[in-house]
Amino acid sequence: MGRIPQHFIDELIARTDIIEVIGSRVQLKRAGREYKACCPFHDEKTPSFTVSADKQFYHCFGCGAHGTALGFVMEYDHLGFVEAVEDLAARAGLEVPREGGSAAPSQPHDEVYVALERAALFFRQSLGGEPKAREYLSKRGLTQEIVQRFGIGFAPARWDALLDRYGTTDDEQQVLLRAGLIIERQPDAGRGASPGFYDRFRDRVMFPIRDTRGRTIGFGGRVLDGSEPKYLNSPETELFHKGRELYGLFECRQATRSIQRLLVVEGYMDVVSLHQAGITYAVATLGTATTPEHLQRIFRLVGEVVFCFDGDRAGRAAAWRALENAVGEVKQGRQVRFLFLPEGHDPDTLVQEEGAEAFEARLASALPLSDYLIRELSARSDPTSVDGRAKLVELARPLIRRIPSDVYRELLVAQLAETVRMAPARLAELLQSGEQAPASRVEPPRFGRAPRPAAGPVTGRGNLVRQAISLLVHHPAAGSGVGDVEALARVDRPGVPLLVELLAQLREDPPASTAGLLERWRDRPDYGPLSRLAAGECLVPDAEAAAAEVRSAIERLVAEDALVRLQALQEKAGQAPLTPEEKAELQALIRARAQSTRAVPAK
Ligand code: GTP
Ligand code: MN
Repeated sequence: MGRIPQHFIDELIARTDIIEVIGSRVQLKRAGREYKACCPFHDEKTPSFTVSADKQFYHCFGCGAHGTALGFVMEYDHLGFVEAVEDLAARAGLEVPREGGSAAPSQPHDEVYVALERAALFFRQSLGGEPKAREYLSKRGLTQEIVQRFGIGFAPARWDALLDRYGTTDDEQQVLLRAGLIIERQPDAGRGASPGFYDRFRDRVMFPIRDTRGRTIGFGGRVLDGSEPKYLNSPETELFHKGRELYGLFECRQATRSIQRLLVVEGYMDVVSLHQAGITYAVATLGTATTPEHLQRIFRLVGEVVFCFDGDRAGRAAAWRALENAVGEVKQGRQVRFLFLPEGHDPDTLVQEEGAEAFEARLASALPLSDYLIRELSARSDPTSVDGRAKLVELARPLIRRIPSDVYRELLVAQLAETVRMAPARLAELLQSGEQAPASRVEPPRFGRAPRPAAGPVTGRGNLVRQAISLLVHHPAAGSGVGDVEALARVDRPGVPLLVELLAQLREDPPASTAGLLERWRDRPDYGPLSRLAAGECLVPDAEAAAAEVRSAIERLVAEDALVRLQALQEKAGQAPLTPEEKAELQALIRARAQSTRAVPAK
């Protein structure tokens, strides 16, 4: 599907009232021009969460949370960007268009969702009439209550149970096919009058897989005996993507208002069994390795994740794959740990045997990612020998390079250095040498205490740029009245390109509010700094005053730049003859300076 066009986001933000959106989820109280509440993102007794109708922006002075209506829905309802857009659009009565999309028919997935929901209901009903399936579930220790909570059902042992009920016309069959519920017969010999499809799931216990809103998007089905394959999953469909979904996530969120951590296990039965025992933060990947997409979803929701694996070889291999994917996501405030179960056990059998308390005690002692990484690397090399150390460095390099956080990387290198009894600086050096990172990397890896560029325009004269940007963020309407920015564009100073781009954007197509401006930057690296500025205070009351301030900031930036250039040229003139162009420039600078000092009396 194509991207959601920016003009639609603009319109959506313009038509959405953040007070209404937040007010429907949190009790807001009017306080002057703003609204206040106790922050929904951290525990507090006195309200420091403020929502501004003018800026269409919220900000908590206590925990620093801030954002637009869209951002709020993403945070509060734990939705992805697209889901949040759909949510707000539905509220505003707008249809979400897609770039390059043929003017898509309204809600194209509707009938597929309906088919899946019907199938789930049918499977649940079938369970009632199937003693052998009910016996199987109770033999596995599941209560009726948990079976209901997870909507577990049974697919009858027939080739056409679903087809007969819900697939009698061509159109209906197409929908079942899109839902992944039926399979097309291979066009072989005896075609005759036999129907072209058959049910995918037959004679299996059925686990519905739900999305974050609780809609069924696929199924996993388990045989009752030892036949193969043990589990059958829905195929990839327009609604179901194995590499993204986490089984049990919806049920976790139903069970707990604000989840603190997630436990990632391997199987359906593990999840259900853990929930039954009261460990309602368990989810499972669907027979695939943990993907970076899974991790991103997880970290949008919680700061702490524990991966749990069987103690056998397959479990250890899966754990290492999870680690390889996780290193790209580690940052401050995110905790990734690994729990290995005794051989011959999985979470299902273990929690049933020893109970939730003992199981949670194991969780408490799960290995942090860094410990697991070091333990595994040491086991694969022999850090007591010179060769072994070289090997360890080789093994560690690709992993450590993928860690996005400088701080975390340095900590890990320090810890690794201790393990191999090497000076951290020496190890950092070794890790950095070797083949260079691919040229496509945006950010070269830095180890140890290498000097690094300052993070953005913060200090000294950079403040002028920052002030101008901040004024524009708070009062986007100020951007249209600033006039000529050509001279500004030539100023070589951090942040100026951003300022110039902002001014151009605001003049061409001014957004209705701060939120409207921010949403245009959501996918760009400057989104973070811009929204932090929006969360900050602005002492200038209106757009007109802001425009005047921005104008004067630009004048000063241009003047300061001219002065720097003037001094450089004069200095150069003292040492070597200037080129004709340089002479002309110098004269122009001197003239301009004389004029401006006459116009603006010195203080
Ligand atoms: P039980 O035997 O019911 O306890 O299941 P389990 O969860 O212990 O199963 P196992 O450890 O064998 O597998 C873990 C997960 O891998 C399952 O929940 C499935 O998602 C997946 N899986 C296992 N066997 C198969 C299979 O034959 N085919 C597919 N597609 N996935 C499987
Ligand atoms: Mn099992």
